Amino acid sequence: MRILIRNGTVVTATGASEADVLVDGERIAALAARDSGLADAWSPTADRVIDAAGRYVLPGGIDAHTHMEMPFGGTFSADTFETGTTAAAWGGTTTIIDFAVQAKGTSLLSTLDKWHAKADGNCAIDYGFHMIVSDVNDTTLKEMETCVDAGVNSFKMFMAYPGVFYATDGEILLAMQKAAATGGLVMMHAENGIAIDQLVAQALAAGRTDPVQHGLTRPPELEGEATSRAIALAKVTGSPLYIVHLSAAQALDAVTEARDAGQNVFAETCPQYLYLSIEDLARPDFEGAKYVASPPLRPREHQPSLWRGLRTNDLSVVSTDHCPFCFNEQKELGRGDFAKIPNGMPGVEHRMDLLHQGVVAGELSLARWVEVASTTPARMFGLYPRKGTIAPGSDADIVVYDPTARQTLSAATHHMNVDYSAYEGMEITGRVETVLSRGRVVVDAGAFHGGAGHGRFLERELCQYLS
Ligand code: URP
Ligand code: ZN
Ligand code: ZN
Ligand code: ZN
Repeated sequence: MRILIRNGTVVTATGASEADVLVDGERIAALAARDSGLADAWSPTADRVIDAAGRYVLPGGIDAHTHMEMPFGGTFSADTFETGTTAAAWGGTTTIIDFAVQAKGTSLLSTLDKWHAKADGNCAIDYGFHMIVSDVNDTTLKEMETCVDAGVNSFKMFMAYPGVFYATDGEILLAMQKAAATGGLVMMHAENGIAIDQLVAQALAAGRTDPVQHGLTRPPELEGEATSRAIALAKVTGSPLYIVHLSAAQALDAVTEARDAGQNVFAETCPQYLYLSIEDLARPDFEGAKYVASPPLRPREHQPSLWRGLRTNDLSVVSTDHCPFCFNEQKELGRGDFAKIPNGMPGVEHRMDLLHQGVVAGELSLARWVEVASTTPARMFGLYPRKGTIAPGSDADIVVYDPTARQTLSAATHHMNVDYSAYEGMEITGRVETVLSRGRVVVDAGAFHGGAGHGRFLERELCQYLS
């Protein structure tokens, strides 16, 4: 199948240009400047010509932080690999990197097998895995080497959730030493869970049980502190460090300082921290439970810092941390005890659109939008230039985006398998029109043409920012 996408504005991390794109099979075959006239020559040989006049032609989005079917607190996040990757495709994301979760007492390799079994044959778009390390011991540390060799070379650790995922500073140090020795990348959930658990216990003992307490018992200072501690441990071990779901200005300050000093420290933020706030957690009648995720939504004052961080590259990536739990059956588990509300929010479908609002508002340039949503995640997680750009030889993961269309986000129209939208009623400028995943048109003119099993596992190279 040869597809010609013509008359559009091709946007990559280096800028926008008037160009036509020829797709042959699963790859991008060629790119030609509009005035070269080459598209006229290609046109008769194309099986399909997509007219992208007035549209952006973007590399497919890469969401480097999702949790499909993730076990948490006795339940599972509501999107399967099939529903979650389908929703991602609808929103212009053509690659996800999901987290395999090591349960305490189990091995990394059996965990990886388990996650392959969940995803294999079920994904509508390409996917990779990170590994959540929750049980650091000699076997685990040895297995980290095997994971790196198997293309799963990023390891998430938790300074939060004592008794579940939490790792001590000593355990983190050991894992970082292993990462430094193997070229792996440690991804850190940086919140001081030991202190937080005390604040949570005090709130519950005082009868403060509403969802907003989730935010009040996880103050931004304890994200800043944990981020600084993770940075110190990374420095001591010579390990690179990637801070996940950064939400607080205090944490960003720590990242900025480390980067200014030349340390290999990177961070991502998520759309919910750019657009939602602790006011959403304080919604009455338990509605705040829809917004419970960790780190929690912050006061709005943090948001200008996050936008600035995205511009200065102290925040390099925007991922969703997509981890949906239904309001009705699942968030309900925490009525009367906010600490039992499953942590996580839906978002995999809306990342490209929400970030485009940053372009519309003048917070981000067009090129920077593509960079934080696609190109840098590809480089950070060893997928570039196969993914993350529009260039000859790259996978034909392409989004045709209408920058002037209007849409309203709603659970009534989204494709995620969850019964609410965190952005219900939000009006968006821009809309995904056509999506190609490895040369196959999976979304077009409001219809889904993809299917479970099209998506392939991506064995990733090492992080390309590290020498
Ligand atoms: O609340 C969240 N973020 N749930 C997903 C798990 C994690 O910590 O990323
Ligand atoms: Zn986390
Ligand atoms: Zn997460
Ligand atoms: Zn449900």
